[in-house]
Amino acid sequence: MSVADLDGLIAALPKAELHLHIEGSLEPEMMFALARRNRVAIPFASVDEVRAAYRFSRLQDFLDIYYAGAEVLREAEDFADLALAYFDRAAGDNVRHAEIFFDPQTHTARGIPLGVVVEGLLAGMAEAKARHGVSSGLILCFLRHLDEAAALATLREAERFLDRIIGVGLDSSELGHPPGKFARVFARAGAMGLKRVAHAGEEGPPDYVREALDLLHIDRLDHGNRAMEDPALVARLVREGLTLTVCPLSNVKLCVVADMAAHPIPRMLAAGLRVTVNSDDPAYFGGYVNDNFRALAAAGGIGRADLFQLARNSFTGSFLPEADKARHLAAITAVENMPC
Ligand code: HPA
Ligand code: ZN
Repeated sequence: MSVADLDGLIAALPKAELHLHIEGSLEPEMMFALARRNRVAIPFASVDEVRAAYRFSRLQDFLDIYYAGAEVLREAEDFADLALAYFDRAAGDNVRHAEIFFDPQTHTARGIPLGVVVEGLLAGMAEAKARHGVSSGLILCFLRHLDEAAALATLREAERFLDRIIGVGLDSSELGHPPGKFARVFARAGAMGLKRVAHAGEEGPPDYVREALDLLHIDRLDHGNRAMEDPALVARLVREGLTLTVCPLSNVKLCVVADMAAHPIPRMLAAGLRVTVNSDDPAYFGGYVNDNFRALAAAGGIGRADLFQLARNSFTGSFLPEADKARHLAAITAVENMPC
């Protein structure tokens, strides 16, 4: 199949997005608009200046600028607008379901109540469902550069929103903050009936992935690229059928891989890992989910069968009820059976 044909298939395939930080979908134009609306000063004079600052050589370079950008988010309406802007784009990429991360501690530390953040995001998600028919769920992420007591306090505060959150996650600076640091808070979240996911093996070693499995009891692994350095770990991930939410453009932007041609997704698929393609922080890394698929296809790493597999993995790896998964999988099969 030519790259143009693959691009057509990418556009046509229904898909779920399972690794998306909603604060990372804040486009520079919206950053400026919200800075004006909320009278917040930002250290940039123009949208071009913001984009020029998005040159990173590692995760921390990005995180510094990502947390600074989030300063413009103040009111529930801002969070609703942010979510809706993401879903407008995602719907255009044929995303039918998204499980989105948010970082409550980034906002509560600035005096924004958790209720403002959650209510705002949920309003945007409800409007997206009405406008585009896209379903979604919220995953509350703990910032791993902070301590476990802060994560426990955040989880306690979130208890009153329990029926509106599907799971907990772990993000921010990975190196020096192994998953085991959060074993108790993840145990408590599990006992509350929440799904558990964690970033591991993005910059951190394969042992961090092992800790996420053994100490956090994760239901899904975010990134996980560095697991490929450890064949026994790969075999375990395959055996346990764990879904990995991989983010190709993010990996290139943060220098986790040398370039797209060197991206491990083709090898991960060949090894039998349940891989999915996601955008991570699309406003910062150069594209939304279909941009990620297209970049992989253009680099020659994946073909038609891989695209179907990746789209199927996104629904089987989601936290949707089985009947909904079956409905989405049938829609993928319908695309497969279309005469070309
Ligand atoms: N890694 C860790 N933390 C993050 C990321 C990421 O890619 N994006 C937003 N927070
Ligand atoms: Zn991420």
